Amino acid sequence: MKSSRRQVLRLAASAGALLPLSESACLRGRPQAKLLESRLPLPKPFESVLPIIPVLKPVRTDASTDYYEVAVHPASARILPGGTTSIWGYNGTFPGPTIEARCGRQVSLRLRNELPVPIVNHLHGGRTPPESDGYPTDFLLPKDYGPLLTSDPRARVKWAEREYVYPNEQRAATLWYHDHRMDFTAPQVWRGLAGFYILRDPEELQLPLPRGDREIALLICDRSFDADGSFLYPALDPSLRGQSGVSMDYMGGVLGDVILVNGAPWPKLEVANTRYRFRILNASNARRYELALDPAPGGAASFVQIGSDGGLLDKPVRHRTIRIAPSERFDVIVDFSRYRLGSKVSLLNKAAGGPQGQIMRFEVTRQERDDSAIPPTLSRIDFPDPASAVRTRVFDFSYRGTRGWLINRKPYDPARMDAQPKLDSTEIWRLQTDFNHPLHLHLVHFQVLSHSGRPGPYDAGWKDTIDLGPGQAADILVRFSGYRGRYVFHCHNLEHEDMAMMGNFEVI
Ligand code: C2O
Ligand code: CU
Repeated sequence: MKSSRRQVLRLAASAGALLPLSESACLRGRPQAKLLESRLPLPKPFESVLPIIPVLKPVRTDASTDYYEVAVHPASARILPGGTTSIWGYNGTFPGPTIEARCGRQVSLRLRNELPVPIVNHLHGGRTPPESDGYPTDFLLPKDYGPLLTSDPRARVKWAEREYVYPNEQRAATLWYHDHRMDFTAPQVWRGLAGFYILRDPEELQLPLPRGDREIALLICDRSFDADGSFLYPALDPSLRGQSGVSMDYMGGVLGDVILVNGAPWPKLEVANTRYRFRILNASNARRYELALDPAPGGAASFVQIGSDGGLLDKPVRHRTIRIAPSERFDVIVDFSRYRLGSKVSLLNKAAGGPQGQIMRFEVTRQERDDSAIPPTLSRIDFPDPASAVRTRVFDFSYRGTRGWLINRKPYDPARMDAQPKLDSTEIWRLQTDFNHPLHLHLVHFQVLSHSGRPGPYDAGWKDTIDLGPGQAADILVRFSGYRGRYVFHCHNLEHEDMAMMGNFEVI
């Protein structure tokens, strides 16, 4: 990988300015995401036990707020049998601890940066005031880091510590937090900077859905490993302190060859013969999955979807398989009473073959009573009226050879405002692309009006990410409520994002 140092798409770190290619190793076609092979034998599937991610305790609470303190630091994790992996983790864990929040109760998250690099924290799916949203240049620098040169005059830079405030004035939903450092999001998330943030409300709590140890959050991601057990990543500068970007071969995205769920390779989970609720997050940099159960349950759909990125659907949607792109969440019920005791049920990834075609395994080991149910009506969804949209904006996401991954032919630039919607106005955004891009907007959730025709099978409910395939276009209906200020929208293939496929909108 060091040898490809010159075959680089260069980005000026933290400025957003794009420099020319140092070599004309330009690509004719659009570079596909590429598998990075581990330099050690892959672990055997279904040997480790699925870790249940611990819920973080607040350091204190008062009438309005729960206060959390998290130190972000290097640590060593047990991921592979018989070895350790050095990670960067929130409180030294990967995935980070789960934050559980209540709608209408504020969360204060005080982060301390004990890494050797700048970080930025973003609550994905959060309706967050701009100063806490984790704008990519709102760096939290290590204590002794010198002044950071950024050409962004609006950057809010802090040293050592910073408080993020999340008002939680939104619907219950499965959110997640992850690093969002300008130009370095992909490698920093790969090293471990991601975790769940689960927002609950009374409406959802009174539904008879599976709960307790039958409600499990599953963070799925792929990683590759170096010979010493550390995470392997094709960063041009593995210190992540200088040159950003990946070697040319991987500019389409980095795919790992080991599938991790909650940080364990191809784990197994013993379950009762009852319904379970799984909050599934694809936290991979670039990999899409098509989830399937093997064997499929007799006479029923494998998955009953009850929620999407933005919380509960109005009514359940049945799926035989689920396609999930980076950063999307699917909240599903799986009914293990459809299987005989002793069954082994694999969660497959139909989007890949070989080892990456497996994700985890459930073993139905116990008989238990089940009082849960899936109500035919889950929630109320009040989408805005499309006729109330005050304008339509068109954004084209495409690859422009040596210029990288662009939006409307322009690379990301913090100084350029790509849209200025008015607070509480509704707009239609027409998103179109020549390639695969999971597209995400901060601050808002949206309704998919069309997705190369009618909304697709995975577009139900409130979304904050929509996955477009080659040559597809989608119209999304967006209401810009919440806060005035500057936010980003971008491709959530993290390598594309770091290579400039990001834009700004300012709610005015
Ligand atoms: Cu999940 Cu801007 O990100
Ligand atoms: Cu993309």
